[in-house]
Amino acid sequence: MDSIIVTGNGPLKGQIPIAGAKNACLTLMPATLLSEEPLTLTNAPRLSDIKTMTELLQSLGAEVTSMQDGQVQAMSSHNLSTTRAEYDIVRKMRASNLVLGPLLAREHHAEVSLPGGCAIGARPMDLHITALEAMGAEIELKDGYLHAKAPGGLKGAVHELRFASVGATENVVMAATLAKGTTVLKNAAREPEIVDLVHCLRKMGAQIDGEGTSTITIQGVDRLSGATHPVVTDRIELGTYMLAPAICGGEVELLGGRIDLVGAFCEKLDAAGVSVEETDSGLKVARKNGRVRAVDVVTEPFPGFPTDLQAQMMALMCTAEGTSVLEERIFENRFMHAPELMRMGAEIEVHGGTATVTGVEKLKGAPVMATDLRASVSLILAGLAAEGETIVNRVYHLDRGYERVEEKLRNIGARIERVNAE
Ligand code: UD1
Repeated sequence: MDSIIVTGNGPLKGQIPIAGAKNACLTLMPATLLSEEPLTLTNAPRLSDIKTMTELLQSLGAEVTSMQDGQVQAMSSHNLSTTRAEYDIVRKMRASNLVLGPLLAREHHAEVSLPGGCAIGARPMDLHITALEAMGAEIELKDGYLHAKAPGGLKGAVHELRFASVGATENVVMAATLAKGTTVLKNAAREPEIVDLVHCLRKMGAQIDGEGTSTITIQGVDRLSGATHPVVTDRIELGTYMLAPAICGGEVELLGGRIDLVGAFCEKLDAAGVSVEETDSGLKVARKNGRVRAVDVVTEPFPGFPTDLQAQMMALMCTAEGTSVLEERIFENRFMHAPELMRMGAEIEVHGGTATVTGVEKLKGAPVMATDLRASVSLILAGLAAEGETIVNRVYHLDRGYERVEEKLRNIGARIERVNAE
């Protein structure tokens, strides 16, 4: 199993190109199931989660070809061989549940394994199920699988989500494109990945309004065509690398970065004393003098502060001047990085969904364990700012969401290498 060794160093300088968004690609790929014509995605990130989605689509009979070193995903769902998404693949990644809406819309039935446990919380699927039921689907849980059918096809409906779930919004929007009549989804999630999905579906001939707001209206059509679509920039990768110069000092330009993708996050960086500037090619982040200031953070659905940047922000706060309070409101168990950061000398107290972090002058390198995707990168950021060597174990989590992380960080002057522990 690979480990990553990070040796703390001084200011970072240079440029990092930001990849296409993992979470956008994971919902754009299943959209191929809605059409018999080819869908091509450009600017796809090269990640193990994308390989898992490829495997899942192929298991359903879709053809998926990766080109240009994985940056282009050419897909065709002309013939589907089954509507059953097997546990063996679904258990690897929760986003596998995004085939449910498209399969149900196109084939009028689907059997999708429940994703099962997940390190950052229970993550049930009740919101997906109730919304699809409102559209006429009959869904029952049998043998660990959701057995869904919509005899005669899905029907448009007016439905309000109890919580603005990203995945449920994506499943409903995709399903509604081929439903009979109009669907109005209220309290819809507003994340940029949903906006990107809608842009792609529109190119495929879908009739959708209101993306990026809390009410999305979808007028069902008989069929969708193929399309070519570039995947939107990954705002979480962007935010993560913005934190590298914030925590180490220096000045780094994030190529392809956009303020509108990370507005709430930038406000917190500003309050902490980190400067963010728009350039012709992206965003430039700089921290010149002294320590950052402590700031409080509450995670919320977009446009609020993203839960997927909470662990990384905590790493920064571990070195800040003062005490900050980080409140996690999206997932119930998402502070597993805290005890690992404490092994590096961080002062953190966790009570339920709240972590209180008292900044220390210097973190100290230590062997630590990556527990999930964003936790693992927070440990790398902490390692960059620590004295001595930090060994991050179980980095397979990292490869799910960050492409060529060592290379990107080395290019801005970080001392980081991957070793094979065997
Ligand atoms: C997506 C992102 C993930 C991000 C999360 C929140 C992808 C592939 N993943 O996950 O990186 O952290 O949004 O921004 O895009 N919930 C229910 N019932 C449901 C569905 C969700 O109770 O049916 C709860 C979850 O347990 C969780 C919260 O709602 O506490 C948010 O989940 P959701 O927005 O659905 O996240 P995902 O789509 O799984």
